[in-house]
Amino acid sequence: MNKYSNSISSNHPLHQKNIITDNTKNEQKHSSDKKKTPVIVGSINQFNIHTYRIIGKKGEGTFSEVLKCQSVKDGKYFACKKMKQRYETVEQVCSLREVQAMKRLNPHINIIELHEIVFDRRSGTVALVCELMEMNLYELIRGRRKLLSELQVKNYMYQLVKGLNHMHQIGIFHRDVKPENVLLKDEQIKLADFGSVRSVYSKPPYTEYISTRWYRAPECLLTDGHYSFKMDMWSVGCCFHELLCLHPLFPGQNEIDQVAKIHDVLGTPSKFILDKFKHRNQAIDFNFPAKSGIGIEKYLPHVSQGAIDVIYKLVDYDFDTRITAKQTLSLAYFRDLREADRRRQSRVESKSRMSTEEVTPRKSTKRDENNNISKKQPSKPQDTAKPRIKDTFGSGKSQYGKTNANYLLKQAQQRQTKLYQKVR
Ligand SMILES: Nc1ncnc2c1ncn2[C@@H]1O[C@H](COP(=O)(O)OP(=O)(O)OP(=O)(O)O)[C@@H](O)[C@H]1O
Ligand SMILES: [Mg+2]
Repeated sequence: MNKYSNSISSNHPLHQKNIITDNTKNEQKHSSDKKKTPVIVGSINQFNIHTYRIIGKKGEGTFSEVLKCQSVKDGKYFACKKMKQRYETVEQVCSLREVQAMKRLNPHINIIELHEIVFDRRSGTVALVCELMEMNLYELIRGRRKLLSELQVKNYMYQLVKGLNHMHQIGIFHRDVKPENVLLKDEQIKLADFGSVRSVYSKPPYTEYISTRWYRAPECLLTDGHYSFKMDMWSVGCCFHELLCLHPLFPGQNEIDQVAKIHDVLGTPSKFILDKFKHRNQAIDFNFPAKSGIGIEKYLPHVSQGAIDVIYKLVDYDFDTRITAKQTLSLAYFRDLREADRRRQSRVESKSRMSTEEVTPRKSTKRDENNNISKKQPSKPQDTAKPRIKDTFGSGKSQYGKTNANYLLKQAQQRQTKLYQKVR
């Protein structure tokens, strides 16, 4: 029997406006790795540890309904992604592509955080309880009259690429990057919806449904599933453009029109590029009408050349030369954001260093009467918060027994004074 299996509540809690879960045992089992591994729970009425009140609906996708919930336990808000498909066993739930992906991707600042998974075995319903975001990027631009500033868009795209870089480095690609799957809260971007992910190392051709048409890369449109992680970068280029001008870059009506729309803007690619697709697809007639392409600049007169260059690198028809996430992050265009990141990182590091120094007492090397090193720690925690300098000079060692920089400096000064005295 699986360690997570429990008896299950009679009615599905989501329909009762509550998600009731049995967390008692699981919380204990997982308390040490709770951050890393979400808790899988069966809903059970007698343990009302985690109950979520449904506040409203956040969104609806092809495969799920997303609800805003509040934890009764601590009043915190969450997004609860209730899957439309039903499942029979905990094993099935655990092996869900989205669950597996989120476990591997968490934690990362630009990836939506999975808090826990609720599985109601009676109804077969699965709900992924995630951190709650404010809106998706499509909602941000929908019906908007005033353009977003380039700096704002640049910041969003930088964060999105950071999330994707993390994914690609871990060895999975998203396959459905689009504004609806990129979430925003307090100017922070998080990538969501990992239901279509694939391993970078899996072998094409891929047969299943992938990416929304407008954001689909040429290799997805023109081959029998012979695409790779680079398809995500094409989609980033489309999002980047769309956010800057509030209009989709390639709004194809169907697959043929999608290819035509790409050629309208970028021009028909060379024979050399088209040949890369040809031998991977027998069904398509590759005699596309020659077009020179109006260029993406046409829609972006208000945007810097730097941004336009980045978009061109992302929507490179040739997947071999298309830029990777890692390369995108290191472009000169993003230098200011990179440096801001670095500064933030070093501030965080120095803060945590300081707090560790303050909180972690050093081991005492005080010797007892038998000349054994006493392991006794300073008894009062506030002792550790005192500046160690104070004791250092009196005893020759810090109060925690270790010489430190000030002590060494003092000694050096004393030696130097003596030396000068001798010389004179
Ligand atoms: N953590 C969250 N916080 C706030 N809103 C969310 C969250 N997760 C999802 N949403 C909203 O719900 C919508 C659907 O979620 P998601 O894309 O994960 O579902 P899906 O069924 O897999 O969708 P798709 O049709 O794109 O495959 C999102 O576009 C977003 O608006
Ligand atoms: Mg989605």
